[in-house]
Amino acid sequence: MLSPREGVRTLPSYHPPLAGRDGLRLDFNENTVGCSPRVLGCLQRLSADQLARYPEREPVEAVVADFLGVAASELLLTNGVDEAIHLLCQTYLESGDEALIVVPTYSMYRIYMMAAGAQVISEPAGEDFRFPVEELCRRITQRTRLIAIANPNNPTGTIAPPAALLRIARSAPTAAVLVDEAYFEFYGQTLLARRGEFPNLFVARTFSKVYGMAGLRIGALVGDPDQMRALRRVSSPYNVNAVALACLPEALADQTYIQQYVSEVRESRGRLERSLESAGIQFWPSNANFVLARVGAATSFVECMRRRGILVRDRSGDHGCQGCVRITLGPRAHADRLLAALQETCDELAIAQGAPQP
Ligand SMILES: Cc1ncc(COP(=O)(O)O)c(C=O)c1O
Repeated sequence: MLSPREGVRTLPSYHPPLAGRDGLRLDFNENTVGCSPRVLGCLQRLSADQLARYPEREPVEAVVADFLGVAASELLLTNGVDEAIHLLCQTYLESGDEALIVVPTYSMYRIYMMAAGAQVISEPAGEDFRFPVEELCRRITQRTRLIAIANPNNPTGTIAPPAALLRIARSAPTAAVLVDEAYFEFYGQTLLARRGEFPNLFVARTFSKVYGMAGLRIGALVGDPDQMRALRRVSSPYNVNAVALACLPEALADQTYIQQYVSEVRESRGRLERSLESAGIQFWPSNANFVLARVGAATSFVECMRRRGILVRDRSGDHGCQGCVRITLGPRAHADRLLAALQETCDELAIAQGAPQP
């Protein structure tokens, strides 16, 4: 009888709750207002001829490389960062190899690592989700072939200091070290400038978050040119679709839009954090476009918010996140709606002002 590989048979299924997402979507860390009008203009101008051809990635790779200040040979456009993670697993992991993550973190690392047959080693974050650099270094062995770190991390919004990330890259020269900068724009620090020192270091960026193009599926992976050659061999030459390729240069050209959005989200993040603080709800100061908060009864909280037209994400199943929800921030008007619903929900569920958290 036909049977999937061992790594696939034991894979937990991951079903993000995408169905019926009506209301203000603060549950997937997307841009809550959408992409730049320049991207919409580009979509309207697309011709049948553009869609009839197989997509050509290289000219847009040159544009993105220029934007990021790297050489085109160092960059691969991917079908979202998800595909970049998948390609890294396919390129570096043999069955039985070890792959390292810090938990809680983005779910797809574990899934792609397991699918490749790797043994996933999960190092728990420290108190208040501190990045456990010492502990992670101690987990590196001769068999470690991939280490994936989201910075800022999802779902916590916390960061790993650059020195800690570089120490890991230095300590594991025969492992690929992915620093996933999906939320870079809300944080502002990158390891891109250090890439030349570490041939095993990869930096990923996405256009799903601040750029508002999650539906187009496009991201970028940067690394050493020799390593990128290997990844290109694994990748489909048509991995990124023509629509996404046409839109990306327009999106990059409208940095005013991006900067305005980032500054409003940062302001909203401050407002939410202050509201949580005055409501006595534990949260972790965030460097991304979302905040993780320990509300206690997460399922009821999500349901109460949904009734008020606001979707937030229950993260209580993640390591160390019992009773936690993750709330995405948008610009001012969306923060106004969020904070009003938050106040009502706290009143309804008697999430006590200043009460000790479970
Ligand atoms: C840390 C992190 N990396 C990657 C992704 C997925 O990015 P993409 O839409 O580019 O596949 C997410 C989405 O939530 C994320 O949080």
